[in-house]
Amino acid sequence: MPQQPRKTTSGRAPPKRILDLTSDADFSVCSWLVTIIAFIFAFLTLPISIWLCIKVVQEYERAVIFRLGRVKRGGARGPGLFFIIPCIDSFKKIDLRVVSFEVPPQELLSKDSVTVAVDAVVYFRISNATISVINVEDASRSTKLLAQTTLRNILGTKTLAEMLSDREAISLQMQSTLDETTEPWGVKVERVEVKDVRLPHQASEHSSDLLTLLKLQTDMQASRLHTQS
Ligand SMILES: *[C@@H]1O[C@H](CO)[C@@H](O)[C@H](O)[C@H]1NC(C)=O
Repeated sequence: MPQQPRKTTSGRAPPKRILDLTSDADFSVCSWLVTIIAFIFAFLTLPISIWLCIKVVQEYERAVIFRLGRVKRGGARGPGLFFIIPCIDSFKKIDLRVVSFEVPPQELLSKDSVTVAVDAVVYFRISNATISVINVEDASRSTKLLAQTTLRNILGTKTLAEMLSDREAISLQMQSTLDETTEPWGVKVERVEVKDVRLPHQASEHSSDLLTLLKLQTDMQASRLHTQS
């Protein structure tokens, strides 16, 4: 089958790395032959090979099957029993349960130039086993790293007062931003909780001084207004 000449993309847009399960053209005669031989071999050694053919995954797991390196059509198998052909099939089990992890305290500069340490908890799960196997090497690790940078990016645009009062909004914003980015990895970010907003150690020692200074400043401003009027 002649291949369509591929358009050369000169733009900056990265190529879309989404799985294409429809291209079956290069499942060639050779692959068929190997498959049939494997079938016959499994059939001839039936009483023994049956134990290699039957696989089971738990209620919360799915199995992505590769036949001669290609993802088998029909999506991930499970829960329960499924069959593979020994020698030519391999599979990968994927856990679909919600995973939670703590984002380690991130020291960052708020919009009003106060250094704060913020930590958060992220809850996510694999929503599509097939694309989480194909599009990303380690979905869990990638999500963790992304959560750290997203936390920094979003909180960097907030003032300290906003961080302390708008926790709910910040959590929601982080959740939707993360979820958008992790979608091509088959990962669904369910929830993000900003746990704690703290002034870091040295800063908190001086924070009472800082507060006194702030109070003094507002008092001065008030008295200035008073004298002006
Ligand atoms: C997972 O993604 C693939 C590719 O986009 C799609 O064909 C398949 O239906 C999806 N599976 C589920 C369970 O959503």
